Amino acid sequence: MEGSQKERASVTYPTYPWSSKRVLVTGGASFIGSTLVDALLDRTASVRIVDDFSSGGMRNIEHATANGSVQVLRGDLRDPEIAAQSVEGMDVVFHLAADHGGRGYVDLHQYACSTNLALDSLLFHAALQAGVEKIVYASSGCVYPLYLQADPDQILYLTEDMLAAPGYQPDGLYGLAKLAGELTLRALHAELGLKTASCRYFTVYGPRGVENHAVIAMIARAFLRQDPFYVWGNGEQIRNWTYVDDIVRGTILAAERIDDGTAVNLGTTERVRVLDAVSMVCELAGYSPQIVLQPEMPTGPMNRVADRSLAEELLGWEPNVPFAVSATFSHMLTGRGTAVEEPIGAGAAAGE
Ligand SMILES: NC(=O)c1ccc[n+]([C@@H]2O[C@H](COP(=O)([O-])OP(=O)(O)OC[C@H]3O[C@@H](n4cnc5c(N)ncnc54)[C@H](O)[C@@H]3O)[C@@H](O)[C@H]2O)c1
Repeated sequence: MEGSQKERASVTYPTYPWSSKRVLVTGGASFIGSTLVDALLDRTASVRIVDDFSSGGMRNIEHATANGSVQVLRGDLRDPEIAAQSVEGMDVVFHLAADHGGRGYVDLHQYACSTNLALDSLLFHAALQAGVEKIVYASSGCVYPLYLQADPDQILYLTEDMLAAPGYQPDGLYGLAKLAGELTLRALHAELGLKTASCRYFTVYGPRGVENHAVIAMIARAFLRQDPFYVWGNGEQIRNWTYVDDIVRGTILAAERIDDGTAVNLGTTERVRVLDAVSMVCELAGYSPQIVLQPEMPTGPMNRVADRSLAEELLGWEPNVPFAVSATFSHMLTGRGTAVEEPIGAGAAAGE
């Protein structure tokens, strides 16, 4: 085992020729999608974005569109014509478009999230028809069985192989659609040779994040000095909030190094309790509000943290930004990133 790890560690990868690649980012106006677009432009890829702007925003991409670096298509990918136009002439597709929101959204909008099944299917079909070389999929920790994630006192790190044992129980229809997307991409590779990869993102935060996600909601509330400070559930939920730049770097590495549909976790192994995250944010904001628990509100699973050994092994990936000392906090507490146009939707819940 040790020997094989050493062998893998010594593998060197050729520099990926991004400058000769035409790349589509679906959902490229989103928080993560737009950060990915910036990273691809830094690598001198030629980038097209398709987005219906249902949750993404022009504000996230206008710097890139202003200097003509990216092509933007506005349209709903559930329309087969839009899907076909989007993938035409593309080499690599990063598929991030999804009907998705924070904890409250994915819990309370099951039908809306179920439309991702059609969205993914149409996009994959169009990519196959267009002769796209590779699809990289934004999956989620929501694919993991809920029954594994019930005990916040258990020291559990979700490994990729825990998905199906002994039976799938993804996190609602949002998780089911992500699971179906992953399995479809695996089948597309096995049966039709398309290069594919899936990245399971865990509770992402950072600049351009919006307040329907837990950490950003906490920061927004602290910024406004809200008192009392509402926390969804009993606050004991454990999460591994992961910084967006780390997520984007892992996603690009997956494009460079995974071809066979393998899904990797992209998430830190930090185990952060919601109540501790709230304390940290309020301390940085310099105030001590009364904490009010809202047990009736959606919480998601009580214990969701990634194991990241597979990402280390296959991608050489590890997160660079630890949650506790994230520079984002102080930046966002004073500047709030670019999220100022969004309503403050959620209490401090827990993300995906
Ligand atoms: N933020 C997280 O913590 C997290 C965790 C796991 C997975 N993900 C996944 O990462 C991706 C990006 O999420 P995000 O948090 O950056 O923001 P997001 O959920 O707002 O991103 C989705 C993007 O897709 C666009 N979109 C939605 N439906 C569309 C349609 N029918 N046609 C075209 N575009 C459409 C939206 O306008 C938006 O820009 C999503 O696939 C999401 O499921 C996010």
